[in-house]
Amino acid sequence: MQPIKMLVDFFDVRLGVRDLYAKELNGYLLPRNVNAWYTLGAVLVVLFKLQIITGILLLMFYVPDAEKAFASVQYIVNEVPFGWLFRMLHAIGANVIVIALLLHMLSVLFMGSYKGRREFTWLSGFIIFNLTMGLCLTGYLLPWSQLSFWATTVATDAAGAIPIVGDYLVEFLRGGPTVGNQTLGRFFALHVVGMPLALLGLIGVHLFCVKRRGISSPPFGPDYSGNETLPFFDHEKHSGGIPFFPNYFVKDAAVICFFIAFLLAIIFYAPGLFFPESAFQPADPFLTPPHIKPEWYFLWAYQTLKIFPSEIVGLGVQGVFMTFLALLPFIDRGPERRPGKRPLFVTCYVLGILIFVAISVWGHYS
Ligand code: HEM
Repeated sequence: MQPIKMLVDFFDVRLGVRDLYAKELNGYLLPRNVNAWYTLGAVLVVLFKLQIITGILLLMFYVPDAEKAFASVQYIVNEVPFGWLFRMLHAIGANVIVIALLLHMLSVLFMGSYKGRREFTWLSGFIIFNLTMGLCLTGYLLPWSQLSFWATTVATDAAGAIPIVGDYLVEFLRGGPTVGNQTLGRFFALHVVGMPLALLGLIGVHLFCVKRRGISSPPFGPDYSGNETLPFFDHEKHSGGIPFFPNYFVKDAAVICFFIAFLLAIIFYAPGLFFPESAFQPADPFLTPPHIKPEWYFLWAYQTLKIFPSEIVGLGVQGVFMTFLALLPFIDRGPERRPGKRPLFVTCYVLGILIFVAISVWGHYS
C-alpha cells in the first residue's frame, strides 16, 4: 500500500486530488432512488470516445477520393491487421449510438427531466442529436459503395423540395449538380473534423448544464417532490443521496459493459445486420440499384416525404415535429413530472413512438 499512498501524495500536493475526490466524486451525491435510465448519458460518452478512437484508426488507411475510397475500405477490412474489427466497431457503433441516444431522449421525455429550469440541458441535447444524425449521414457516404452513393443521392435530393432555396441547397450540399468527388471531399471534412469538434464542444456544454443545475430526482416513489420554480438560480442538491463514486459509478460501468457486449454481439453474430448487398458493391452513378433505402433511423423522414402528395408538405410536417421537440421545455411548463399525472404529454410520446415505428417499418417494406 505504501507505493500507492506515495503516488497519491505525489499528485495530491500538486493537484489537490484528495480534495477533488472528496468533493466531486465521493462527495457528489445523486438521488437515493436514481435508476438505470440515468446511466445512458455515461454510456453515450463512452460510445462517442470509442467512435473517435476507431475513427482515427480508420483514418490511417482511408483515402477520401472517389477513385480510391471503396478500395481503401476493402484494404482496411481484408489486409490491415484487425482492420475489420475497427471498421465494424465504427460502423455498427454508429447504430448503437443512435439506439442509446433515442433511449436517453425517451427516458428524459417520460420522466419529464427537461423540466425544472433544464431548458439549456435539453436544447444542447437536441442540437447534439441533430449533429449526430449529420455525422451518420456524412459517414455513410465515405465507403463510396452503391449504398453510400445512392442513399446520399436520395437524402440530398430531399432538400430540393424546399421552395426557392431548394435547388441551391442541393448544389451546396453536393458541391455540384450530382453526388461526386466534391461531395465526398466536403462530407469527409465535415465528418472527421467539423462535426466531431462541434459535438465535443456541445457535449461539454451539455455536461456543464447537467452538473451546474444538478441532476433531477426520479419522479417515482415516496422521495418525489414537485419542482419549485424559483426566480433565482438554484443547484438541485440530494442530501442523504448516494455517492457518485464508487456507488453509482458501478451502475454506470455495468450498463456501459452491457452496451459494449451488445455492440460486440452484433459484430460477431449478426455482422450483416446493417450492411445490405449494395454496401459491398463500388459506387456506380450509372446503375441505380432496385431498392435503395436510407439507414433505419432516417426511414421515418424518407417515408414521410413519400406519404404526402407533395414533398413540401412532408418537409413541413417534419419541420413542425422537430420544432415541437426543440421547444418542448418551453411548451410543457407544468411542474408535475410523474408520468401517470401527465396524461396529455405521455400519450403524445407513446403515439410518437408508435408512429415512428410504424412509418419506419412501412418505409422499409415499401
Ligand atoms: C452525445 C449525446 C449525449 C450525451 C453524451 C449526454 C450526456 C448526458 C449525461 C452524462 C447526463 C446526466 C446523466 C443522465 O441523466 O443520463 C445527461 C442528462 C440529460 N440529458 Fe443528455 N446526453 C446526450 C444527448 C442528449 C439528448 C439528445 C437530449 C435531448 C434532446 C438530452 C437531454 C438531457 C437532459 C434533459 C438531461 C437532464 C437529466 C436530469 O437532470 O435528470 N441529452 N446527458
